[in-house]
Amino acid sequence: MTFPATFLWGAATAPHQIEGNNTDSDWWLSEQLVPGLERSGDAVDGYHRYPEDMRLLAEAGLNAYRFGVEWARVEPTPGHFSRASLAHYRRMIDTALALGLTPVVTLHHFTNPRWFAERGGWMADDAIDRFAGYVREVTAILDGVEWVCTINEPNMLAVMVAMSRAAQAGDVEKWTTPTIEGETRPPLPEVGPEIGRRLAEAHHAAREIVRKHTGAAVGWTVANQALTPTPGNEAKLREVRYLREDLYLEAARGDDFIGVQSYTSQPVDENGVVPHPPSPDNTQTGFAYRPDALGIAVRHTWEVTGGIPILVTENGIATADDSRRIAYTSEALRHLSQAMDDGIDVRGYLHWSALDNFEWGSWEPTFGLIGVDRETFERHPKPSLSWLGHVARHGRL
Ligand code: BGC
Repeated sequence: MTFPATFLWGAATAPHQIEGNNTDSDWWLSEQLVPGLERSGDAVDGYHRYPEDMRLLAEAGLNAYRFGVEWARVEPTPGHFSRASLAHYRRMIDTALALGLTPVVTLHHFTNPRWFAERGGWMADDAIDRFAGYVREVTAILDGVEWVCTINEPNMLAVMVAMSRAAQAGDVEKWTTPTIEGETRPPLPEVGPEIGRRLAEAHHAAREIVRKHTGAAVGWTVANQALTPTPGNEAKLREVRYLREDLYLEAARGDDFIGVQSYTSQPVDENGVVPHPPSPDNTQTGFAYRPDALGIAVRHTWEVTGGIPILVTENGIATADDSRRIAYTSEALRHLSQAMDDGIDVRGYLHWSALDNFEWGSWEPTFGLIGVDRETFERHPKPSLSWLGHVARHGRL
């Protein structure tokens, strides 16, 4: 398996999951108030330790790093932008560039400023203008950045929007980590198309601003569930997949690229998506072990978007056994390479995640290529980091 010389090989993170003390965000507030959520606290102090994190990735042999800018830090109160926070993210970009890491910058990764959420969040009348105002400020620090992701997993964000609306209406008393499956988690709400359409509008507004003010390729990153039909349930699959995925993929037509994020695959029967059956092989987030999902996700994305360039912006496994991470990833790359052999234009592979981090209300799942001691914040690179770096250096498996 050989990959193109220009291929991006990297790892990904999100601000709230690694930075620590993201106190002006809506997630921070929920962590203090909502039973069932662990706190992000200091997280892994990524806010201060990013030079070390990036150096570890670069030294291992990777050539790209996906990280995010935190809206709550850049605009802690409406209309007042923090020059110091913007300068911080500019330093991150400069650090990446100096290390030979191509920065892939995400503008929104699940968290909102607390004030934005309190004023009605994504469904408020002025939501798009508010987001656009923030995006405009950020474009001032994006010089030299070639890849910008507007909104991370809008389809998962839509679930979170629906969950917080239900919480506000008093319909849920306990909010568990939405990205972890299991018996203790109440079923996620089925989300109608309205939230998705609103997020698509926000994405298009951001795309226009990024194109106007920067030279970066712009797209968004969609959670792909690699849904497959059980016999006779093709129509049900199409119906379920439209609301969960295709609405968001269709909104990417006209973008410069699409981010594919893939972890597992699930069947759809006459009742909808079939929950992962309990199995000792399931990952720490309760997902079926399905490294082949990446191939299904990439092919489906290519078909629905009408063939826009693909960047794998997340793929990985929550496991305490690092040899399983290597096995999962090499198998996923094999499926990716087969899809590329069939003519699908894939520009890079960014592993989730660079570091063990805060999994949206739980510290238990470990996705990292690098482990972290949460008391001293000491970094412990795992064998999977040097393994992926080796693949990256040689461009083949
Ligand atoms: C998200 C990440 C998350 C990961 C693993 C995606 O849903 O973008 O923030 O940590 O998957 O669950």
